[in-house]
Amino acid sequence: MKIRNFKVEQWMNEYEEDAVYNLGETCIDSMTLRELLELSGKNPEEFLVSLGDERMTYGYIEGSPELLKGIAGLYENIQPNNVIPTHGAIGANHQVIISLIEPKDNMVSVMPTYQQHYSIPESIGAEVRPLQLTLENNFLPDLDVLRSLVDKNTKMITINNPNNPSGSWIPLEIMKEIIKIAENVGAYILSDEVYRGISEDDSYMPSIVDLYDKGISVSSMSKVFSLAGLRLGWIVSKDPEVLQACKIRRDYDTISCGRLDDLFAGIALSNKDKIFDRNRKILNHNREILDKWVNETEEVHYIKPVAGTTALVYYKKNIPSYDLCVRLIKEKGLLFTPGSCFELEGCVRIGYAFDSKTLKEGLDKFTEFLKEI
Ligand SMILES: Cc1ncc(COP(=O)(O)O)c(C=O)c1O
Repeated sequence: MKIRNFKVEQWMNEYEEDAVYNLGETCIDSMTLRELLELSGKNPEEFLVSLGDERMTYGYIEGSPELLKGIAGLYENIQPNNVIPTHGAIGANHQVIISLIEPKDNMVSVMPTYQQHYSIPESIGAEVRPLQLTLENNFLPDLDVLRSLVDKNTKMITINNPNNPSGSWIPLEIMKEIIKIAENVGAYILSDEVYRGISEDDSYMPSIVDLYDKGISVSSMSKVFSLAGLRLGWIVSKDPEVLQACKIRRDYDTISCGRLDDLFAGIALSNKDKIFDRNRKILNHNREILDKWVNETEEVHYIKPVAGTTALVYYKKNIPSYDLCVRLIKEKGLLFTPGSCFELEGCVRIGYAFDSKTLKEGLDKFTEFLKEI
């Protein structure tokens, strides 16, 4: 099975270690274990010492009861038996697509998105029909275009909501229309929701599985929980066929998610409100820093992100995004992600959810660079 190179992951593998100002990062300021334990009201020393007696068995194969309950609690009307824990959201996306898509199917994928959503089905031999999100349309799906893309062989529509890289979030009215279109042809909707959970004003952000019985939600501890090192993600669905197909596949590629990952994820999920409060402050504050900088910088423009941790910033210079980003890392120690990693040009992805100081200094470095070239 041939598969294309995963552009964004290759970019990060090659350059992340060289970054002085890492604005390629998409996680919200990652937590230490100490911070997680303190925030959860535990004594870190005592807790970590007590782990010394844990036998390193596989643990709960299908996830501990605490973990499954914690994940189910992120949705409305979802029970623990609707949840399948995986190795990160990357494991979840892979498992869903490989379990459900066959060469005879077609699949609609929003673009830009996380490359798994189009390169894995393509590698299976399925036809991928891109649904381009544009700056002019605030990076939201055009419903007429979507209607024209689906037919009776459309097995799945895949979205990434909130969207990486653009930071858009599909409003409920548009989501309901997307569901009608999927329902008409009996298609699943796979929604990669790794950036879902923290709204600006603390209001609930509906998941696809709250709205559509053939909806499949993928998420993880990496982004809004600031715990990417746990490598713990999940699939949630109410559809029995989806659950069964993914569970059969899971026996071949997962076994369990790791005892420690399961344990710490369970702790984080039981304290989600505290983590979300911490992270909402970071997101809202940093989004304003980015917005102020864009408004003050003549050479750039963007659509202000409403959710997630990233924005697509367009620049008025005649240089390919990959070359621009290589020069930035080499000359200024500043890591952005080239638009070309998302099949786009004239723009870069900025991850703004790490610390405010690095964000401000990194943006200043970019201003300096734009004046020099
Ligand atoms: C949209 C999207 N989906 C999935 C992933 C993979 O996340 P995880 O760390 O949970 O495997 C990423 C990571 O950048 C992402 O941006």
